[in-house]
Amino acid sequence: MTPRKPIVAGNWKMNGDTAANSALLAALVSHADAKRAAARGEVGVVVCPPFPYLAQAGAQLTGSGFELGAQNLSEHDNGAFTGEVSGMMLLDIGCDWVIVGHSERRSLLGETDEIVAAKAARALGAGLGVMICIGETLQERERNLTEAVLARQLQALEGLTAMADPAKLVIAYEPVWAIGTGRSASAEQAQQVHAFVRARLAAIGFSGAPELRILYGGSVKPANAQGMFEMPDIDGGLIGGASLSADEFIAIVRAADLARG
Ligand code: PGA
Repeated sequence: MTPRKPIVAGNWKMNGDTAANSALLAALVSHADAKRAAARGEVGVVVCPPFPYLAQAGAQLTGSGFELGAQNLSEHDNGAFTGEVSGMMLLDIGCDWVIVGHSERRSLLGETDEIVAAKAARALGAGLGVMICIGETLQERERNLTEAVLARQLQALEGLTAMADPAKLVIAYEPVWAIGTGRSASAEQAQQVHAFVRARLAAIGFSGAPELRILYGGSVKPANAQGMFEMPDIDGGLIGGASLSADEFIAIVRAADLARG
C-alpha cells in the first residue's frame, strides 16, 4: 500500500472579511514550516474560505503549494437555481476541493444523505476533490448508534464507487458533539471509528479504501493534533476554529508533518 499523504484543511465557515482574510492568508503563506510541508508535497494543506473570498484566497495562495477549497456546492450543474454555486464554477475559479455534507449543513439546512451523495457526485464529475463529512450526534453515541449512523451515511455513497479516484475522495469523520465544543474525541476513540469507516468503505465497494484519506474533525488544536495524526487510520484533519489563527493552523500542519515521521 502506498503511504497516504495527510491533509490538513481549514474550514473557515462563515467568518472573515477582505482585510482579515488578507492578513490571515499572508501569515499562512509566509510561514516557513507550512510552506515546507506543502512544497515538499508531504502534507496537503487546504484553505476553505466562504464563497465571496475564494478568488481573494486563490490569488494570495498562488505559488504557495496550498490548495483552495469551497465549503459547499449545488447538486445541479447549472440553470435556474438562484443563489446556488456549481462544481464547474468552483473548478473554473481555481478550487481544488469542496467540502460536502458538513454537519452544520445536515442539521441546520436539512441536507440528507441523498443530497450529500448527489453533491459529492457533482463535485467528482466536475473534477474537484471532495471531502465528505460524516459523524454521529452525542445522543446517537450515547445510545451506541455511532457505527449504525456512520454505516448509513456511508451506504448513501455507494453510487460513487465507480467514479471515485481515491486521491480525490476524502472522508472527514466529525463527531457532531466534538465540533466547536472544545471536547475532542480521544485519539483512540477516533482511530476505532476511522478503522470502522475504512472497512465499511471497502465493504460497499470502494476498492481504493486502503488509499483513501480519512480526516478527523472536531476541536482539533495544536495540543491534540499530533496524537491524532499518529493513529494508523487518521490521515489528517478538518479544522474549524483553529484554522482562523495562522499560528494554530500552522502548528497543526506541522503536527501532521511530524506524525508522518
Ligand atoms: P472545530 O470545527 O475545529 O471548530 O471543532 C471542525 C469543523 O466543523 O469542521
